[in-house]
Amino acid sequence: MTGVPFIVAIDGPAAAGKGTLARRLADAFGFAYLDTGALYRGVALSLIRAGNTDPTESEATKAALRLDLALLKHPDLRLEATGGMASRVAAMPAVRAALDALQRRFAEIPPNGAAGAVIDGRDIGTVICPKAQVKLFLTASVAARAARRVKELQDKGLAADLGAITAEIEARDARDAGRATAPLKAADDAHLLDTSDLGIEEVFATAKSMIEKARQTRT
Ligand code: DC
Repeated sequence: MTGVPFIVAIDGPAAAGKGTLARRLADAFGFAYLDTGALYRGVALSLIRAGNTDPTESEATKAALRLDLALLKHPDLRLEATGGMASRVAAMPAVRAALDALQRRFAEIPPNGAAGAVIDGRDIGTVICPKAQVKLFLTASVAARAARRVKELQDKGLAADLGAITAEIEARDARDAGRATAPLKAADDAHLLDTSDLGIEEVFATAKSMIEKARQTRT
């Protein structure tokens, strides 16, 4: 084995199915998994819990630098309100910079001696791991993503309103893709996968064979 970890970068808009796919791939290949959205959500949640729902960039950056990783397991991390706030702090360049080192370190030295890592987010293939061996860009229609998010929330016993969630997803898409620093966009060498009409098994099988092919070429 070469010393360089094998990196799978998965980017795409909110609720495109990145997390489910990333977890399955990490399990299949014995790779470590990093959900970078959870880091931005953690920053958002720490601010919300401190009663600060309209932070300045410097307040949000302090929260990012002091991020308590235990917060990433908090049930409120997955709330739409936390996601919306995460998208707002994620547009602040100093917040992104504060979370940069942690993400790059994970890619350079995946935990538990794993031979590789699956990392999902918005800018993994473009900014964090531009040399990732496999880059996937997952998309799906707003309607498909909203329906999935509603089901995900309902499965967790949380309230979900389709109209409100559709509006939230549209607002987040616009903010994540429109910001100046590290906007949501596919890397030039990313494989585009539209998951609107695909089940997780089909998406998983396609991604898995792409990774297998790339691993063969490398060895
Ligand atoms: O993937 P998610 O819904 O958990 O992400 C929450 C927000 O965090 C998302 O709206 C944008 C931001 N984010 C980002 O800007 N860059 C990343 N690498 C991951 C997430």
